[in-house]
Amino acid sequence: MQTIQANNYPIYFNENAYAALNEYISNKKFSNIFIIVDNHTNEHCLPIFLSNLETDLTIEIIEFESGEENKNIETCVQIWNVLTELKADRKSLVLNVGGGVVTDLGGFIASTFKRGVEFIHIPTTLLAMVDASVGGKNGVDLGNLKNQIGVINVPKMVLIDTQYLETVPQNEMRSGLAEMLKHGLIYDASYWKTFTDLDAFDFADFDKLIYRSVEIKNEIVMQDPTENNIRKSLNFGHTLGHAIESYFLENELKTTLLHGEAIAAGMILESYLSWQKGLLKVDEYSQIKACIKHIYEDIVFDQKDIDPIFELLVHDKKNEYGEIQFALIEGIGKIKINQLVENEMILKAFEDYKN
Ligand SMILES: NC(=O)c1ccc[n+]([C@@H]2O[C@H](COP(=O)([O-])OP(=O)(O)OC[C@H]3O[C@@H](n4cnc5c(N)ncnc54)[C@H](O)[C@@H]3O)[C@@H](O)[C@H]2O)c1
Ligand SMILES: [Zn+2]
Repeated sequence: MQTIQANNYPIYFNENAYAALNEYISNKKFSNIFIIVDNHTNEHCLPIFLSNLETDLTIEIIEFESGEENKNIETCVQIWNVLTELKADRKSLVLNVGGGVVTDLGGFIASTFKRGVEFIHIPTTLLAMVDASVGGKNGVDLGNLKNQIGVINVPKMVLIDTQYLETVPQNEMRSGLAEMLKHGLIYDASYWKTFTDLDAFDFADFDKLIYRSVEIKNEIVMQDPTENNIRKSLNFGHTLGHAIESYFLENELKTTLLHGEAIAAGMILESYLSWQKGLLKVDEYSQIKACIKHIYEDIVFDQKDIDPIFELLVHDKKNEYGEIQFALIEGIGKIKINQLVENEMILKAFEDYKN
């Protein structure tokens, strides 16, 4: 598969990935290499990765415990200390082998250590391949506030090797799939169409779908790296989705949702808003709802859940000047950003979701 060129860095796929990495390392005079992993990617991915890495440089493995709850500044402090003890310097190379938690955290650590050392992402989940590793956003959470601290700084390259997906749990695969559905809905109607008949879908083609998703995310980011206009389209499904995700995370009576599961519901709700605002035809809305509900289990919202979800919505960092702004879809494959929606309509969206 052809290399995708992003803003100042290439994204290599499968057969091209390791050759490009090995060549890069042999041409640059790095002092040593640090590989950041979590405990799962240490077990499942690192052996594959190391068997493909060719270098005489010293390699140090830095592992932290997996999970979003560890994507915080405390973990960074620990890893900055380890880097210091192990004599990392400005010429060290950091390789982030893992899901979005590893790439977000590792990218941030490398971007800030000694004012920045080079880093490369090797995403190992579907979500990290099609979303987190592309676009240059790195960072960590601050308490409950997701991605509150971070920088925009691009890696030297991204290596996408889809064989890592073989050990990714099914629910995590579904979570990543939500971002792929989103890419179709906001940018490419024919891409979306491939997902509307998943039963007829040939999974041998899955690599091609991953490739297209990366292409779409990259095209959007390239047009607007700092998120002033079209990059906001990537927030489709996320305004309500994030609020739902946070609510289920904070509420002890609820089982935590994976990011993509919350976003899937968010996309149904925001498609409803798009329809109600006259941007989407009713049959398009019905198709989106049916398709997403076919893949994802229904989330049960009680009446008493809606108010706290609203509260969280108001605190969403994407709100500017105190208004809730949505990125809605204008037909399938096209986006309309900065849309204001009345609270009443949002309530109706939740009502409709249940039916
Ligand atoms: N920077 C961005 O633009 C951006 C975009 C989207 C999401 N994100 C971030 O990405 C994170 C979510 O990423 P994620 O869904 O990859 O979560 P994750 O990194 O927590 O990975 C999910 C789980 O899969 C495990 N895992 C990873 N690779 C595996 C493999 N090959 N085999 C078996 N298990 C494996 C992990 O250890 C973890 O338990 C969030 O923190 C989110 O904020 C960032
Ligand atoms: Zn997302």
